Amino acid sequence: MDPRNVGEIEDADGIGEVGNPVCGDMMTFYIKVDDDDRLSDVKFKTFGCGAAIAVSSMVSEMAMGKTLDEALEISRNDVADMLGGLPKNKLHCSNLGADALHNAIEEYRSKRQAGEKGDQDG
Ligand code: FES
Repeated sequence: MDPRNVGEIEDADGIGEVGNPVCGDMMTFYIKVDDDDRLSDVKFKTFGCGAAIAVSSMVSEMAMGKTLDEALEISRNDVADMLGGLPKNKLHCSNLGADALHNAIEEYRSKRQAGEKGDQDG
């Protein structure tokens, strides 16, 4: 009922988007990464059911302040557990949250790798 970290980070370091074609729900995660490879900010926009919004809020809170490697370890099951369990037909909602966060981290890493490569080439 009171989701945290809702919104968009304008100059995000990484953005991850997932959707579920069955229910049509969409989730986007935005991350800021500091010099120690830690998540200094995590925000999300979710167009979806109540469970998906609760999951997004929980994932953002769990990820905040973690290193990228630690955040990648947040699993689909962890999220559902932290919420006190989800009904079986809502488990796919919790999958979206972890997936969107992981996508944002992967996007950040691939951009950075491309940048480093560009530096070497240039
Ligand atoms: Fe699809 Fe919840 S019903 S994300």
